Amino acid sequence: MYGSRIAGTGVSVPDRVLTNADLERIVSTSDEWIVTRTGISERRIASDSQATSDLAERAAARALEAAAVDPIDVELIVVSTVTPDTFFPSTGCILQDRLGASHAAAFDLSAACSGFIYGLSVADAYLRAGLMRNILVIGAETLSKVVDWSDRGTCVLFADGAGAALVQRTTGDSRILSTHLYADGSKGKQLIIPGGGSRHPVSQKVLDENLVKIKMANGNEVFKVAVRSMEDAALAALKANGAEITDIDLFVPHQANARIINAVAQRLGMPKERIVMNIDRFGNTSAASIPIALNEAVRAGRLKPGDLLLLAAFGGGLTWGSALIRW
Ligand code: ACO
Repeated sequence: MYGSRIAGTGVSVPDRVLTNADLERIVSTSDEWIVTRTGISERRIASDSQATSDLAERAAARALEAAAVDPIDVELIVVSTVTPDTFFPSTGCILQDRLGASHAAAFDLSAACSGFIYGLSVADAYLRAGLMRNILVIGAETLSKVVDWSDRGTCVLFADGAGAALVQRTTGDSRILSTHLYADGSKGKQLIIPGGGSRHPVSQKVLDENLVKIKMANGNEVFKVAVRSMEDAALAALKANGAEITDIDLFVPHQANARIINAVAQRLGMPKERIVMNIDRFGNTSAASIPIALNEAVRAGRLKPGDLLLLAAFGGGLTWGSALIRW
């Protein structure tokens, strides 16, 4: 039976570091507030000339190198992003050209912070079906370009970065065991960029009303839904595989807020030492947060063959999901 495995990971984040002290000079906030409410100390912000594809390209190249796969052998590129370079062509197509992946189909996937797990699920389905051998899944964002830098409720949270995984067909035991995806469009307005699309095309009025920027209706409500949904998705993964929380060797949650991660961990009964948390240094990079954290864990030797790895995410849409992986 075919399955799929993560054969290599790679990351790229901008060089520019924006600290909480820097933010104190932009909006009415404090390092103390940001650290205690979110766990974030600093984040990476793209330069004016850096677009999502620039970060994604480097992350993808590193994942290909780690997997020892030639770009010519990639058959599909999935870029999960809510900050594509352009509406079209897709950022996936831009990468297909730049990576020299001339045999690959390519598209972008919009599932906000759950994007990497959604992308992984798509890749897993193609590979399990035996339709392809090598798929690049990339979570990449330049959220700094769509953050309202006058809104202290959101601008302290979001950041830029890219993480990639080369997902490969396998017949071995190291494989993605399951993915679970969920959505609730009825709560979509809780996290939204209202303007710039066909509902409110770019106009002077739309720009004046700041509609081409991230709006979060009720951070508190988002917080509660995030905790509940990530817990539910994680439990669904365990149940589907007859696993217990004590079987999990490593948990890589979406890095939205350290308090959200701690609350999910507490409800699941997951000890701190088995959780990957790097939000203090990278903030919330949406679709990029899980692959960035996963890459860090891989490079730090926190995963060995046979380990059970749990991923869980929550984001705009609303969307949420989980993946259980035998490493
Ligand atoms: N600095 C200082 N004060 C602030 C800031 C800030 N940056 N932001 C908000 N405040 C103030 C508020 O105005 C409020 O003041 P008031 O009581 O005078 O009205 C006070 O702090 C408390 O605000 P709350 O919103 O109740 O604070 P809370 O503890 O809920 O923390 C936060 C806010 C961090 C946004 C939290 O609700 C949260 O993390 N929610 C989830 C957000 C999230 O993760 N969104 C993205 C997830 S999905 C995705 O990743 C796309």
